[in-house]
Amino acid sequence: MTFDRNLKIAPSILASDFANFGLECAAVEAQGADWVHVDVMDGHFVPNITFGPDTCRAIRPHIKTVMDVHLMIAPVDPFIAAFADAGADIITAHVEAGPHIHRTLQAIRATGTKAGVALNPGTPAGAVTSLLDMVDLVCVMTVNPGFGGQKFIHAQVEKIRELRSLIGDRPIHLEVDGGVDTQTAPLVAAAGADVLVAGSAVFRGGSVSEPDAYGKNMQAIRDAVV
Ligand code: DX5
Ligand code: ZN
Repeated sequence: MTFDRNLKIAPSILASDFANFGLECAAVEAQGADWVHVDVMDGHFVPNITFGPDTCRAIRPHIKTVMDVHLMIAPVDPFIAAFADAGADIITAHVEAGPHIHRTLQAIRATGTKAGVALNPGTPAGAVTSLLDMVDLVCVMTVNPGFGGQKFIHAQVEKIRELRSLIGDRPIHLEVDGGVDTQTAPLVAAAGADVLVAGSAVFRGGSVSEPDAYGKNMQAIRDAVV
């Protein structure tokens, strides 16, 4: 993976057909996705369950770009090796997932995988200032994690701006996750985000047999930002 700050769209397969993950990943990439965002939930850290490392491993061959794995699980450390072995390019853990996020990020990087840190809406930007020299990505949650299709929390835009300034020249992606659509994408991009996760706004109206809608939806987000 090389680093640049060009705008990227990372469709979340949480909003895709769970019976067709491989085809969905290929379809959304063929329609112009920059990364593929994979939401792992444990029913403990967040009030929903999705899937684990074996599913990530199964999806991996169908992703040519970047497999961006968002762990909404606690604890994290016992599972890092499994997600790295499954082929994740980036593993993101939540700062709220345990008392030792520093150790978690060290452990992720030790696998050779890029490390990301995510912040829930109630967590201030300052929670990651001591971590910025050991991460490749900061993810600002603009909904409470657990479900797709929730309403964007506008108060998070200021936090994105703060983090953009804290990151400075470091080669760190600033990702935004939750409620990103044609209305909210321009706000977060203007605040400094470079990776936009979008689930429902990308997969809405399409399917693996009618994937054109994915391309149109992503183009509408890009057009809204420019
Ligand atoms: C929420 C997930 C998000 C979610 C985004 O817990 O981390 O990635 O899928 O979905 P939308 O774009 O529908 O808010
Ligand atoms: Zn996510």
